[in-house]
Amino acid sequence: MRRLLIAGNWKMNTNVGEGEALAEALRDVDTNSVDVLVAPPFTHIDRVARALKGTEVFLGAQNVSEDTCGAHTGEIAAEMLADLSVDYVIVGHSECRGRGEVDATVAKKAARALDAGLLPIICFGESEEVYGSKERVDFLKKQVEASLAGIKDLDKITLAYEPIWAIGTGKTADAADADAVIGQVRAALDPAIQGKVRILYGGSVKSSNVAGFVAKENIDGVLVGGASLKADEFKAIAREA
Ligand code: G3P
Repeated sequence: MRRLLIAGNWKMNTNVGEGEALAEALRDVDTNSVDVLVAPPFTHIDRVARALKGTEVFLGAQNVSEDTCGAHTGEIAAEMLADLSVDYVIVGHSECRGRGEVDATVAKKAARALDAGLLPIICFGESEEVYGSKERVDFLKKQVEASLAGIKDLDKITLAYEPIWAIGTGKTADAADADAVIGQVRAALDPAIQGKVRILYGGSVKSSNVAGFVAKENIDGVLVGGASLKADEFKAIAREA
């Protein structure tokens, strides 16, 4: 049985003080039956790490460079995140892909994260157009395959299915449909890791709908955006899961 992961992606929200206060308010989140992760903006990581010290809450980053340390202005190397006790890193989020990030870059970022001892959460998902097409499943399988290209430690990967039209819209995917498509993506993975890889659902998750997703056989947790910015709501999501 794969342990559930409840991951909060703060995106580019909160100033550092608000982020620190949010982390402080999450110190009593229930981590007995689920893994809980918060992914603040880069600028908040150190203060959030200190605020969560002594808790079981995992620390995440929202992106990482495809390169190792060197002349890459404006980039953040995986080693730098590891220095700040980051555990996980989200790569290939649709909001990054929407800025031109391609599958091959996602795979390189995941490899850099693994090299530095971080655990990648690799996002995949489709647009509304693709969602309604008969190519949908093949599209998602190809996206995942290309985003995992060349990665050896596949058992350290987490995947996150986020239908783009469900992100920030208040409209979630149908849980049964998400479970079915995640099951088809899972079945296309290397047989050695099919049963091990956690696959999350993301897209307008709230405490009122999380149970319906995590009850599904192929869904091992959620990647939460907006609702992760409210401590009580995020704690309720972890409780209801
Ligand atoms: O990474 C999670 C995010 O894309 C989902 O956002 O606001 O729909 O929960 P939201």
